[in-house]
Amino acid sequence: MTVSDVPSIRVLRIGQRYVRDERTLTHLCLVSRALGAESIYLEDAENDVLATLDGVNRTWGGEFQAKLGASWRSVIREAKKEGRSVVHLTMYGMPIQDVVPELRKLDKLLLVVGGPKVPGRVYHEADYNVAVTSQPHSEVAALAIVLHEIQGGEELKRTFVKSKLRILPNPRGKRVVEN
Ligand SMILES: C[S@@+](CC[C@H](N)C(=O)[O-])C[C@H]1O[C@@H](n2cnc3c(N)ncnc32)[C@H](O)[C@@H]1O
Repeated sequence: MTVSDVPSIRVLRIGQRYVRDERTLTHLCLVSRALGAESIYLEDAENDVLATLDGVNRTWGGEFQAKLGASWRSVIREAKKEGRSVVHLTMYGMPIQDVVPELRKLDKLLLVVGGPKVPGRVYHEADYNVAVTSQPHSEVAALAIVLHEIQGGEELKRTFVKSKLRILPNPRGKRVVEN
C-alpha cells in the first residue's frame, strides 16, 4: 500500500453523557488511534478520556485527535458533504466479509459505532450497515475488526511520528528506547 492508497478513516461514537462509560470511550479512542484512524468524534466525554489520549499521543506519537461535542447528525452530514462514506457497524447489517471488497475501494470513510442505544435514523443515514458476525458483542471489538479488514493488515505496520518513546519488539520482557 503506498501513501496515496492509505484511506482516510474517521470514527464517530454515538452516545450521550447520560450513559457514562469512560472506559469504553477510552478504548475506542486507543483502538482508533492504534489501528489507523485519524480522529474520533465523541458526542460527549469526560476530561479523563481526553487526558489519557493526550498522554498517549505525547509519549507514543502520532497526530490522532478526539473531537468533542458535535451531534451525530452534524458529523454524518459533514462527512457526506465531503464525499466520505458512512459505514455503520451493527449486528443487523451485512457481513463484513461480504462487503469488505467494496469498502476497500473507498478513500474516505466515517465508521460509526453505537453505545447502549442507537437511533433508528442512523441505519437509514448510513451508506453501509456492516456486521461483524450477526451476534451481539462490543463496539470496541467490532471497530478493531473492521479497521483491520478495511486496511488489510497495513495498519499493523504504521509508525507514529514525534514519539518520545519507541518499543523494540522483544520475544521476552520489555525494551523501550527514547527517540
Ligand atoms: C453494546 S452494542 C448495543 C447495540 C444496540 N442494542 C443497538 O441499538 O444496536 C454497542 C455497539 O456495538 C457495536 N456492535 C455490537 N455488536 C456488533 C456486531 N455484531 N457487528 C457490528 N457492530 C456491533 C455496534 O456499533 C453497537 O451500536
